[in-house]
Amino acid sequence: MATSTSSLLVLLAAAATVLAVFPATPVSAALPDIKPLLSNPWSAFKNFSGCHLGDERKGLAKLKDYLGHFGYLPPQPFNDTFDADMERAIKTYQENFGLEVTGQLDPATLAKMMAPRCGVADVINGTSTMAKSTVRGRNLYSYFPGQPSWPRSKKSLKYAITATSETTIDRATLSAVFARAFARWSEATTLNFTETARGSDADITIGFHGGDHGDGEAFDGPLGTLAHAFSPTDGRFHLDAAEAWVAGGDVSTASSDAAVDLESVAVHEIGHLLGLGHSAVEGAIMYPTITSRTRKVDLASDDVVGIQSLYGSNPDFKGVTPAPATSSREMDSSDVPGALSRLSTRVAGIVLAAWLALVLESW
Ligand SMILES: *[C@@H]1O[C@H](CO)[C@@H](O)[C@H](O)[C@H]1NC(C)=O
Ligand SMILES: *[C@@H]1O[C@H](CO)[C@@H](O)[C@H](O)[C@H]1NC(C)=O
Ligand SMILES: *[C@@H]1O[C@H](CO)[C@@H](O)[C@H](O)[C@H]1NC(C)=O
Ligand SMILES: *[C@@H]1O[C@H](CO)[C@@H](O)[C@H](O)[C@H]1NC(C)=O
Ligand SMILES: [Zn+2]
Ligand SMILES: [Zn+2]
Repeated sequence: MATSTSSLLVLLAAAATVLAVFPATPVSAALPDIKPLLSNPWSAFKNFSGCHLGDERKGLAKLKDYLGHFGYLPPQPFNDTFDADMERAIKTYQENFGLEVTGQLDPATLAKMMAPRCGVADVINGTSTMAKSTVRGRNLYSYFPGQPSWPRSKKSLKYAITATSETTIDRATLSAVFARAFARWSEATTLNFTETARGSDADITIGFHGGDHGDGEAFDGPLGTLAHAFSPTDGRFHLDAAEAWVAGGDVSTASSDAAVDLESVAVHEIGHLLGLGHSAVEGAIMYPTITSRTRKVDLASDDVVGIQSLYGSNPDFKGVTPAPATSSREMDSSDVPGALSRLSTRVAGIVLAAWLALVLESW
């Protein structure tokens, strides 16, 4: 009894500290409660809050499908039992995303899982492409297994925007957006990119597709999976036509809460086309999730070191741009109150000092 009372006191003291340091933070931030603001393909996951080893919960197979899709479980028909394999998979996920490694479906983990993200797996053939949290602070960029890249002799790549019938964005705007996205990578490397009209001339083809589009990686409607791209030298880059893409103007003022910045997603997917896998660095372009209504187009040093190791550096490269203030919100899901994500970030203790300063400033 005495033990639980003192535990309670410690908890209350901790809560009081949180409230004292961050007086504007509502109490709900100290006691996270996931209330999705938007429906997305994964919003039902909020029902699994607190699930742990041994639980049997209707629909849990869907969450195993998610873990399977992103490589954390070998794909198979799943049942609703929270078994040891699922616990292991969740621990790997938590390590990759810098979350507290509990092996349980705690609110911070579920919030992360519901965030819109890239469709490319984090674990490929059983090997996590994202480094473990213990090496945080160093570069955490990754390559695909076998480190595929474009041939060293091929410095000039051509891309074509080939499938546009499922988007209402006009051609000129698309050309401008993708040109800017490719430029982020050519500025840092010896590569350069030119648009070509015909897919048959192109190394890289870009298209908007809805639902199942023939490559076994069906899109899922608004939010959820946003886009995917294949490793070199495949060259295919597909965007989910159902997203509320913003291709020009300020995405942060878009009318839809589910608006996603096309250029930001394009910069990320081009990283895959060139051979980068996912990075565990939150500020990196190659981090798997992105917040809706957020622009994130500047390569971080993690991305730059990764791509320059593959293709060499551009002597004219000016270096990375310091992260804009919006970076502090990168971990947020549009599905959860920002306070929850920021709290979980802090609990996980993975925020770099500079970032922490930004987070605190935005509170
Ligand atoms: C979540 O759980 C509640 C009650 O347990 C249930 O009524 C609801 O249908 C569930 N929601 C989803 C999306 O599965
Ligand atoms: C669920 O599947 C696992 C194997 O994947 C199996 O060991 C377990 O018995 C199954 N549970 C139920 C309730 O069918
Ligand atoms: C995964 O491994 C299988 C068998 O070893 C191989 O055929 C396949 O190409 C690998 N996939 C990737 C993405 O490396
Ligand atoms: C692209 O690279 C090639 C070969 O280095 C060069 O000749 C060409 O001028 C470059 N194009 C642009 C637009 O920079
Ligand atoms: Zn990705
Ligand atoms: Zn596809």
